[in-house]
Amino acid sequence: MKKVLLAVFVAGGLAFSADGAAIFKSKGCASCHQPTADTVGPSLKKIAQAYAGKKADLIKFLKGQGKAIVDPAKEAIMRPQLTMTKNLPQEQLEALADYILKYK
Ligand code: HEC
Repeated sequence: MKKVLLAVFVAGGLAFSADGAAIFKSKGCASCHQPTADTVGPSLKKIAQAYAGKKADLIKFLKGQGKAIVDPAKEAIMRPQLTMTKNLPQEQLEALADYILKYK
């Protein structure tokens, strides 16, 4: 019983500390990025395809250190959003990148 409780606690803790979907939602990213339809921003699918196999580059972009490769003409809209992601801990950046890349 103790072991089960511990497992639940650990799993819950991990989900809380690095849940890409929750971060994406809580930072308001979803207001401009839909799963498959382009709205204000490109779809998550389009982003995932552009960054397929390039997770490190995606994290770099989220840290404000990369260049837009999906829709550079609209980078001016996305650039200010990076203030919400650039100081996230690495673990959360990884979770966020994993979440986005899943839409490929
Ligand atoms: C106000 C609308 C808006 C919000 C909010 C927004 N984005 Fe964007 N995003 C855009 C637009 C427009 C582009 C296309 C320009 C570009 O490619 O950088 C974009 C592009 C991107 C890209 C592709 C970058 C590339 O290489 O071209 C990623 C990744 C991204 N957004 C992630 C996020 C995340 C994560 C959040 C939440 C922290 C977020 N966006 C919030 C509008 C938005």
